[in-house]
Amino acid sequence: MDMISNIAPNEYKKFSNFLEKACGITLGDGKEYLITSRLRKLLRDEKIASVAELLTALELGEPRYLLGLVIDAMTTNETSWFRDRSPFEVLEKDVFPLWDSDRKKQCKIWSAACSSGQEPYTISIALSEYVALTATTNLNSASIIATDISASMLEEAKQAEYDENILGRGLSLNQKQQFFTESDGRWIVVNAIRQRVNFKEQNLLLSYDGLGKFDIIFCRNVLIYFAAQRKTDILNRMAKALNPGGFLFLGASETVTGYSDSFEMIRSASGVYYRLKN
Ligand SMILES: C[S@@+](CC[C@H](N)C(=O)[O-])C[C@H]1O[C@@H](n2cnc3c(N)ncnc32)[C@H](O)[C@@H]1O
Repeated sequence: MDMISNIAPNEYKKFSNFLEKACGITLGDGKEYLITSRLRKLLRDEKIASVAELLTALELGEPRYLLGLVIDAMTTNETSWFRDRSPFEVLEKDVFPLWDSDRKKQCKIWSAACSSGQEPYTISIALSEYVALTATTNLNSASIIATDISASMLEEAKQAEYDENILGRGLSLNQKQQFFTESDGRWIVVNAIRQRVNFKEQNLLLSYDGLGKFDIIFCRNVLIYFAAQRKTDILNRMAKALNPGGFLFLGASETVTGYSDSFEMIRSASGVYYRLKN
């Protein structure tokens, strides 16, 4: 019989509490199967006999890398190029033109849960497309900080190399040819797109003070896993990390409504986004 087919109710509660404190992810009731299926490989690889033993090791903080493995196992890293299309249309049609006409300094963008890199590289591709279309020079020097809690996801993102099937998720043939080079079946993001993006580890539950100020924040498809008070706290701290008039993009099923009063919702022909209130 599998060593973690069953989790005692108190162990389930303890593990859920630990996970929520560590990274904000709430499991809710009745998700025992999620723990057993997601931790099975980790327990086998690390030769840990049970969730109770895992919890003891996590509480002791030994071995140090264990917390990262647990967070990796329990988080969803699903992503794609130009995910949902609309935020990137809003960028190219509404936000970049507005920023371009308003300001002359460097545009700073934060991709706040960047997974394997598709989101920040997509933003960089959108920037290059906008610059090519409008011949503006202001936005060419834009910089993107891409962060995630997962060190292994950040490593993957920094490699900037993707399989053919991953590339197929959201890019046109033209974009593939223009923004990637192929080597041994791997597709590598070209330098012009890569050089705008810097990666950094950042747990969204912790202070953003070290990151600086931004004009645009993408925080997509991560708040959905968090409890209401965490969403409120993160959105209010993101508001503080934005320059006046800054923009916020959330995932298609996420909203600020009911969590933060710092933003106004804007509906344009291209989609919904948020702007910091004055
Ligand atoms: C579903 S992916 C979203 C990727 C991308 N933003 C998108 O919309 O395609 C969620 C990401 O959030 C990250 N994550 C989960 N909890 C986090 C936390 N507390 N702080 C920072 N990142 C976190 C996960 O590691 C994962 O890469």
